[in-house]
Amino acid sequence: MENHTETTVDRRRRVILFPLPYQGHINPMLQLANLLYSKGFSITILHTNYNKPKTSNYPHFTFRFILDNDPHDERYSNLPLHGMGALSRVILFNQYGADQLRHQLEQELSAKDEPSVSCLITDALWHFTQSVADSLSLPRLVLRTSSLFCFLIYASIPLLDDRGYLSLSDNTTPFLDGLGYHDLSDNKRLEEQVEEFPMLKVKDIVKMGFKREKDGVGGVVDNMVKQTKASSGIIWNSFKELEESELETIRRDIPAPSFPIPFAKHFTASSSSLLEHDRSFFPWLDQQPPKSVVYVSFGSVAQVEEKHFMEMVHGLVDSKQLFLWVVRPGFVSGSTWLEPLPDGFLSEKGRIVKWAPQQEVLGHEAIGAFWTHCGWNSTLESVCEGVPMICSPFWGDQPLDARYVSDVWKVGVYLENGWRRQEITSAIRRVMTDEEMRERASVLKQKLDGSLMKGGSSYESVESLVAYVSSF
Ligand code: UDX
Repeated sequence: MENHTETTVDRRRRVILFPLPYQGHINPMLQLANLLYSKGFSITILHTNYNKPKTSNYPHFTFRFILDNDPHDERYSNLPLHGMGALSRVILFNQYGADQLRHQLEQELSAKDEPSVSCLITDALWHFTQSVADSLSLPRLVLRTSSLFCFLIYASIPLLDDRGYLSLSDNTTPFLDGLGYHDLSDNKRLEEQVEEFPMLKVKDIVKMGFKREKDGVGGVVDNMVKQTKASSGIIWNSFKELEESELETIRRDIPAPSFPIPFAKHFTASSSSLLEHDRSFFPWLDQQPPKSVVYVSFGSVAQVEEKHFMEMVHGLVDSKQLFLWVVRPGFVSGSTWLEPLPDGFLSEKGRIVKWAPQQEVLGHEAIGAFWTHCGWNSTLESVCEGVPMICSPFWGDQPLDARYVSDVWKVGVYLENGWRRQEITSAIRRVMTDEEMRERASVLKQKLDGSLMKGGSSYESVESLVAYVSSF
């Protein structure tokens, strides 16, 4: 997977990449960096000290650390390191980062002993970078790490708010304030179809957990949309066959070129993992029959309350399926790791680890289903390996991804009613045994594989991106 032919090897052009410092954003940006390196570009990565990746895994890149170099800077020094509170850095760095970024870029642009800078590629959520790049006449491309349909829905937040959807449920915890999983109360309107996005139910919009606001997360999302539209190009972690009509809409409405590229098919995300991968379960997994194990993981940020964790435990046990479960330390609110687990839970039926090489696990022949929070990387990694999903989204893009997995691509079951053990059990059983669903997941994987062949859409996307970046 990682043996790219180098089409150009003189490395006379340099690309500067600037990921958002969270696992679900670092992974695709460093996969993109590896891809561009394999095509002959020299690579400089700008990064915060917070959540910095292991630079020794990237001896071929140059790293520069910016924004939080001063440990006494009170704006950032007391922020939480984990959980939802850690995400507040996105708001603050967008607010205060411009001068430092400009200074760093000026240095890069004037460096005599470095290859000339072709362009800047930033995470789309770094919206403040567009005006900095403009002021230096430096082309800025964005990497949007979620789906194209998510972008279109985020772009419609003002309209969806005008319809009253964002304030519909009293139970909704705004994005940064709670654990994020919305158990929505019975309200008929929540089950209605969204007129502008008929594949969505109103509750999918509510579950995103956004408010329409100038500041805060809502403000970041609004600015992300505006500054993505103002960029010189958009790179999507996706592929044409998965989101064909959305790609058409975006190409029609946004003048900047779009490049959908499924990164997981080019490079695994293992070298950019912030946590150490436990591999000790592989001998056990190797012994299990094909498609017999449920892989369970909810990404790098989500947290659950203990009572919900117990519903998960019972739902999983009652399904009587083999399982491999990633429980990050801190995943259960108020617990260090597995304290709430009943005695004897860890039986022959399953293994629990703190962190796993996810893509490798999903590609293992023993894996039959993925119970996921539907972060976009996880969703796409599952699609890449043809693994059907059980979807328990928390917030943001996740409820939208879950809806597409279950109702559009029909490669999974969406647990729409929160954490209820009987529903969990029956969803797991259904996904493990539904051969038609498994077949659809396999067809989707074949389409993806086909798109990577010479002349295929993803292959062409990489070629046009390389040509475009070279043209600056
Ligand atoms: C966040 C948001 O939650 C998500 O909705 C958004 O699309 C991206 O940012 P996160 O919650 O971490 O990301 O989920 P996800 O996008 O799925 O990314 C998790 C990454 O961590 C994946 O690349 C996955 O392979 C990796 N991972 C996960 C591991 O390497 N090991 C694990 O045990 C679990």
